[in-house]
Amino acid sequence: MTAEDNRNTGKDRAALDFGTKLLHFGSEIDKTTGASSVPIYQASTFHHHDIFNPPVHDYSRSGNPTRQALEDYIALLEGGVQGFAYASGMAAISSSFMMLSAGDHIIVTEDVYGGTYRLLTTILSRMNIETTFVDMTDLDQVKSAYQSNTKAVYMETPSNPTLKITDIAAVTAWAKEHGLITFLDNTFMTPYYQRPLELGVDIVLHSATKFLGGHSDVLAGLAVARTEELAKELKRLQNGLGTVLGAQESWLLMRGMKTLEARMVHSEKSTARLAEWLSQRSDITAVYYPGLASHPGRDIHERQSSGYGAVVSFDVGSGKRAKQVLNKVRLPIVAVSLGAVESILSYPTMMSHAAMPPEVRKERGITDGLLRFSVGLEGIEDLIEDLDQALSE
Ligand SMILES: Cc1ncc(COP(=O)(O)O)c(C=O)c1O
Repeated sequence: MTAEDNRNTGKDRAALDFGTKLLHFGSEIDKTTGASSVPIYQASTFHHHDIFNPPVHDYSRSGNPTRQALEDYIALLEGGVQGFAYASGMAAISSSFMMLSAGDHIIVTEDVYGGTYRLLTTILSRMNIETTFVDMTDLDQVKSAYQSNTKAVYMETPSNPTLKITDIAAVTAWAKEHGLITFLDNTFMTPYYQRPLELGVDIVLHSATKFLGGHSDVLAGLAVARTEELAKELKRLQNGLGTVLGAQESWLLMRGMKTLEARMVHSEKSTARLAEWLSQRSDITAVYYPGLASHPGRDIHERQSSGYGAVVSFDVGSGKRAKQVLNKVRLPIVAVSLGAVESILSYPTMMSHAAMPPEVRKERGITDGLLRFSVGLEGIEDLIEDLDQALSE
């Protein structure tokens, strides 16, 4: 046996520790040159050496070796049969929704990401795909939204930005009884903390722009299918719609993903400290973090996830005060997005959820005083000191 064969023998990658999988995902060494990272195949098409034996990849929209390495990587991490990489999180979500047809109905978590809300209410609605938004912390609301044309359930847990928790196994079990497809946006938790396919979800989705990429330098989306049948459908849609991720971005994303565990562990520890600090302040009217003992969804979250993540939302009481904080902070970047090495402070009302009508935002607890803090890798005491000065009049 050659040394190379030896490296590839006896490895049940699925059984490896998550941290090991992040580094040893199958394509970590280039088979041809031994290069220590996946080559960037910057090619749109592939020569047919022999017309009777076409190459594995023939055109980069249908398949590209760099993208393929990433797609296999995310499938391994999520525990699914096949992964798919897209130009953005919204490209992953919109391509997956194309599994539905005109006349279908979908049940969606009410505090879904603003862009998903916009897609459902302003684009898919024109295609006669109907949506009912429900508070998914309440299974009865999910059940009562069922119609004869319901085809799918779309979950996001913890939700954005109020971090509400959906009981994934309960919703999925009910959906299965009715033959519904289940989707789950796993952006906030990542497969490091939560693997929805293991709880029966059919398709897991990511804005990989966030924690997976981790460095605020790549826009990407990922999907993973639980079964071969679903994978076949997603493949057909990805190729047919052409919503694919480019080779450069695929490489950059893999580069970021290798440190996912280290980043999540550090940021989560800091977030827990920040959430406690915020909840002890009398001038903060609400703190949303599933790791807090007071969080109403904490028990369910602990059953389905191995951590609480690195996003905390909090209400400073008014829009005026929120704007003051946004203009006074010195360390976090004030921006749309989350899940990066640097902390990011967002203002959902004017950023991620601006697409939601004000009255809908209000109903969903997305008040003018709500801020969302995505905790990065800075020293937490520095972040707290900075936030303290920004909160002071
Ligand atoms: C939870 C969630 N899902 C999906 C998206 C959309 O992803 P992208 O911006 O990569 O298209 C975002 C972006 O903020 C998000 O936060």
